[in-house]
Amino acid sequence: MAIVIPVFTLNVNERPHVRMAKWTATSSSLPSSSPSRSGSGSASIWPGYSFNVHTFMMIHLNIGLTDDAREQAIGLLTQYLADTQVLANKTQGFHWNVRSTDFAELHGAFEAQYDALFASIDKTAERIRMLGAYAPASLSLYAERTQLETAHDGVSDQDMLKWLVGDHELLIKWLRDAIKELQALGDEGNADYFIGRLRFHEKTAWLLRSSVG
Ligand SMILES: [Fe+2]
Repeated sequence: MAIVIPVFTLNVNERPHVRMAKWTATSSSLPSSSPSRSGSGSASIWPGYSFNVHTFMMIHLNIGLTDDAREQAIGLLTQYLADTQVLANKTQGFHWNVRSTDFAELHGAFEAQYDALFASIDKTAERIRMLGAYAPASLSLYAERTQLETAHDGVSDQDMLKWLVGDHELLIKWLRDAIKELQALGDEGNADYFIGRLRFHEKTAWLLRSSVG
């Protein structure tokens, strides 16, 4: 699986303890996790994908992490923020629109899942702030940055389940690598946070997978 690695370009501005950090990140072979609109079960949605530049302020902190380590951690948290925003939005849309003989069960399960995802979004954004950066709140940025395909209409109940399983599995694999990267940076707090998120996605993937016919 391709891992999105943010690449930071730093410019020190006139204030000694504040600097502008810009990141750009590219990935050429992000995996597909969703059924295609045509229903063929495969999609090539990421060819030549590249992110727009996002700019944020990063203040100096004295918390035992180098600025470079914090920037890498902020990049990983920002990636996860974008991905969970898209996954929460998609799951909520499925909660609204699912049609199934198991409607009540799926409607309720999707609600519990998007509630948990939206709660985690707040935690992730606050962890970005704890590292001294602004948490991006732009819907267009999330859509540009995410590894997941954004939701669309006209999806059957079984394709909803398969699509969500694929998204959670993608995040499980991404989090495994991100955890190792954070541990290598010495950022045990965010590594521990991501371990908790890994467990959530593992359990949610299992619940969803168990309902696939
Ligand atoms: Fe509802």
